[in-house]
Amino acid sequence: MRKISLFSLLITVIFLSNQCTHKSRVRHIENFCKEWKFKLGDNSNAQDTGFNDSGWRTLNLPHDWSIEGEFNEKNPATPGGGALPGGIGWYRKSFIISQTDSNKIVFIDFDGIYRNSEVWINGHYLGKRPYGYSSFRYELTPYLFYGYKKNLIAVKVDNSKQPNSRWYSGSGIYRNVWLVKTDKVFVDHWGTFISTPVIGELSAKINIKTKLNNRTGKEQSVKLTTTILGPNCKKIAKTSSIISIPTDSIVELSQEIEISDPKLWSDENPVMYQALSLVECNGKICDNYETPFGIRSFVFDRDKGFILNGKHIKIRGVCDHHDLGCLGSAVNTRALERQLELLKSMGCNGIRTSHNPPAPELLRLCDKMGFIVMDEAFDMWKKKKTEFDYANDFDQWHKRDLEDLILRDRNHPSVFIWSIGNEVVEQWDRKDSSGISIARELASIIKNLDKTRPITANCNDPDPMNPVFRSGALDLYGFSYSQGRYADFLKNFPGQKLIGSETTSALATRGFYQMPSDTIRRWPKQWNIPFTIGNSDIACSSYDNCSAPWGSTHEETWKLDKKYDFVSGMYIWTGFDYLGEPTPYSWPARSSYFGIFDLAGFPKDIFYMYQSEWTNKPVLHIFPHWNWKAGETIDVWAYTNADEVELFLNGKSLGIKKKSGDDLHLKWPVIYSPGKLVAIAKKNGKEILKEEIRTAGAPAKIIMLPDRNVIKANGVDLSYVTIITVDKDGILVPNTNNLIKFKTEGEGFIAGVDNGDPTSLFSLKGNEMKAFHGLCMAVIQSNGKAGKIKLTATSEGLQSAAVEIKMK
Ligand code: GAL
Repeated sequence: MRKISLFSLLITVIFLSNQCTHKSRVRHIENFCKEWKFKLGDNSNAQDTGFNDSGWRTLNLPHDWSIEGEFNEKNPATPGGGALPGGIGWYRKSFIISQTDSNKIVFIDFDGIYRNSEVWINGHYLGKRPYGYSSFRYELTPYLFYGYKKNLIAVKVDNSKQPNSRWYSGSGIYRNVWLVKTDKVFVDHWGTFISTPVIGELSAKINIKTKLNNRTGKEQSVKLTTTILGPNCKKIAKTSSIISIPTDSIVELSQEIEISDPKLWSDENPVMYQALSLVECNGKICDNYETPFGIRSFVFDRDKGFILNGKHIKIRGVCDHHDLGCLGSAVNTRALERQLELLKSMGCNGIRTSHNPPAPELLRLCDKMGFIVMDEAFDMWKKKKTEFDYANDFDQWHKRDLEDLILRDRNHPSVFIWSIGNEVVEQWDRKDSSGISIARELASIIKNLDKTRPITANCNDPDPMNPVFRSGALDLYGFSYSQGRYADFLKNFPGQKLIGSETTSALATRGFYQMPSDTIRRWPKQWNIPFTIGNSDIACSSYDNCSAPWGSTHEETWKLDKKYDFVSGMYIWTGFDYLGEPTPYSWPARSSYFGIFDLAGFPKDIFYMYQSEWTNKPVLHIFPHWNWKAGETIDVWAYTNADEVELFLNGKSLGIKKKSGDDLHLKWPVIYSPGKLVAIAKKNGKEILKEEIRTAGAPAKIIMLPDRNVIKANGVDLSYVTIITVDKDGILVPNTNNLIKFKTEGEGFIAGVDNGDPTSLFSLKGNEMKAFHGLCMAVIQSNGKAGKIKLTATSEGLQSAAVEIKMK
């Protein structure tokens, strides 16, 4: 039955953790996200210590206030930005620093605030960061009170000038915050850089550059010992150096360690090492700092494409924006991990962080799970794409923001490519040379900090006269779409290497099908195509027969990508649907149709095409559903990696179809009559898989399937509960839209609800949702207390259901 293949996806893959734990700790890193006060709206003097915030809401970070609002076409973000509210918001947090810390250096690290954040400590202004995706640090030491007197951090976030983004950004302190305390001699911020200049079969050389900061007020002799821990956390090598650091300065020390029998990091076997930096001052430990890293060699070859550790592979990647569906942009490690697990199960091995620096947690997961990351800096340079975007800040901030990205991310083995920009407007102007000069400047900023990775830009003008290409700044030419130009690439771009840095832009609504299945729709033909409100009028067909005119269907794209070895691979637009950019429709559509997964994370049918091509797992997936009008001709498709499939309707064979040539699907036109469709797939003449789809009756009951029955009671862990409306025999009812209401009892709460319908205007933070084509999702979050939560789902006329999730 359909439900078996669909929900086999929900089985959680357990990835072994590569984090080694260490006993002695001098450096103290505290997650600083609990119990902030928040108020939406501007508040003069809220930075002052005496300001009364007793009426403000108390919440935990990461927090996105936009996702809490109502969808409205009139919101200044526009539907392109997700149609949710922006505005100004203030956050305040008071805290105590113990007297024993008075000899420490104290920092606050923000992983990301969208956008225009300004920060004060005890009324003292620390600074401003306009870019919403940069991570940054302020030092608090000189302004702190120690002992009983409270300290006050105040943060103003200004996302009032919109539109400033072509997709949903979210608003607020949407990433983690950390309080870091060190001794007066310490490893500086992002102060290590690890590279592996020589990798042999028997040994590898590791180079470790460490920046040491001396704030003792006098010259200080320091011993730095770097120990390498192997994949099993065992110490395998170490080296020590002694250096004298002048008063109040930073020095960089370079060390080299050789290790034997190196285990290489790859997408299939992402082996991690760790470097431990131990700093000793006058015989005492004054800092300990950890840098996870990996050992891998790679080349982008002009003729052979991407070669990792000597083996030719394709980058089978996706582009994604940073929002997490109903959680908005508030980062959550489990939500990211779930997305990556779903992508891995499809055979995907690459992520492009379109079009901005990602959350640090994403890269840690990519290291651990084996994804080849294109880490992207900007969506625009000096020429804007929306009225209030980063182009306004580019002159003043691009150097700092780009440097911060490279310093933060250059130790991740998953990061293989730096992208300096996405489809920047500067690429189109043949007369203006700014595209050349900016590209060169950005590349030199990167090369100054990291020469081990190629630089690309995603360019949708695939012409040799494109100033970004002419700049000579790119090591790797990134084509955005333009697949028709692959064939002539080697001729048109002598000496250059190619990657499909953005491809596809196919469009589909999960569970919606339009015949004829093989006729390709290029939508929108124009942006004002008429439609009336009602789902089927604002939907795109799931037969992979719909794409944006600048893009191509999934099958068209993958066929061309695999045809040419010199194309290093592709990053498909996109892995998941995202809030904003509701192409090809406009309001009431408010999220995208580009995903292989919908916004709730349910796979669209095309998921199985990739799985059949990109994994060795036997795959058979037939669609559409089997609820049509009698006598209609319905195209039944199968995605499979078997040799042949035989289809039966109510026991009668409709013929055997064999895969031949570059076929990516099989097809049978079938005159519909209700009942049971059965597909049997054979390999080498032997039956390997069977799939069944049955006609569903009227919706009768609700089924609930949590992806995890036990989660951690840590305040952030999640269980994704799938809700299915089924008939009396347990068959998913595909064409209904029942309203499901949720209720909880016990510990934990509903963090979000969704159904993957790009036109649903229900709040994603509410406690009701329609079962779109039979499915919706409720996300349960731990509130930090051990115990259990009971989630009940009810719907008028249907038998209700409940599920219990334990928090440990
Ligand atoms: C690309 C762009 C993406 C997204 C996509 C939609 O041109 O780089 O950000 O807008 O089109 O098809």
